[in-house]
Amino acid sequence: MEKVLLFCDPGIDDAVAIIYALLNPRIDLVGVVTGYGNVNEKQATDNASYLLQLGGRPDIPVIRGAKGPFSGELVSYYPEIHGPEGLGPIRPPDNLITNVQDYRAVFDLIDLYKNDLTLVDVGRSTSLAISFILKGAEEVNLVKGIYIMGGAINHPGNVTAVAEANFFGDPIATDLVLEKGKNVTVIPLNVTNYALVNPQIVNWIAASNSNPYSGLIKSIIDYYINAYKKLIPGLNAAPMHDVITLFALTSPGSFQFASRRVRVESSSLSRGNTIADFRAKPKEEPKETLDHIALAFDYNAFIQDFINVMTAKINN
Ligand code: BDR
Ligand code: CA
Repeated sequence: MEKVLLFCDPGIDDAVAIIYALLNPRIDLVGVVTGYGNVNEKQATDNASYLLQLGGRPDIPVIRGAKGPFSGELVSYYPEIHGPEGLGPIRPPDNLITNVQDYRAVFDLIDLYKNDLTLVDVGRSTSLAISFILKGAEEVNLVKGIYIMGGAINHPGNVTAVAEANFFGDPIATDLVLEKGKNVTVIPLNVTNYALVNPQIVNWIAASNSNPYSGLIKSIIDYYINAYKKLIPGLNAAPMHDVITLFALTSPGSFQFASRRVRVESSSLSRGNTIADFRAKPKEEPKETLDHIALAFDYNAFIQDFINVMTAKINN
């Protein structure tokens, strides 16, 4: 069972990732760090708290992350994809049961679990990068590994021609994590764009009525699919970027990886551009460990796993 501390910005695919982590017998979700990104930090924190409450897991801490990027610039959110409050048509109730903690809880979890813990980041990189700055790379690198969803490597971006939203959001933070992190796996758009879930799959999950999330899953993913339909004419499905990042952790055998040094550009037109060094013999000194990049995956294995996990029964 993989112990996971999930950094996220829920956001619909983040919300599905939280649910997937909670329902998955191969994942032990030990905390959720919520930062700005798809919505603001406060909304992300409420959304995560609501999802944990719905599953009867308010014992899992929700840890408040960053409110904005290192550059200090204003943040744009993505209501056109995730809805104004991040969960499509759903609004968390006012009387939330919360277990919200401040950022020090991240350090406590790293200290407690060390190399039993994997840090999985499916939001802007700021909240994770803060650990490298405040705690120091040596201590953060005591964890088993780091998985980050983001980037587009020799592949079109989704917010600019070259940039993916998470790496575009705070490229300074992402580059810092990539350069300081020891055992980093990057799950870029090259893979996540194709982790498509369609209405038939959603209807199947909803009809199973197996757990407290069945109805919510249908409402939020239907909303997400409709948003993607407007973005990409002819597509009647939506990519589960954040979910397949967790699947890469639990099922590495379903992926092809390359090991290369990965950097992210911060400057104007190419901001967020993700550069993996595929030269046979790079001239620069490589960092201590190369990054693992997911480049292809087995779609059928992903969908089968997604359906199995999302229709799992939970007792609460
Ligand atoms: C990433 O950006 C966010 O909008 C999604 O939640 C995902 O983490 C995809 O580019
Ligand atoms: Ca996300």
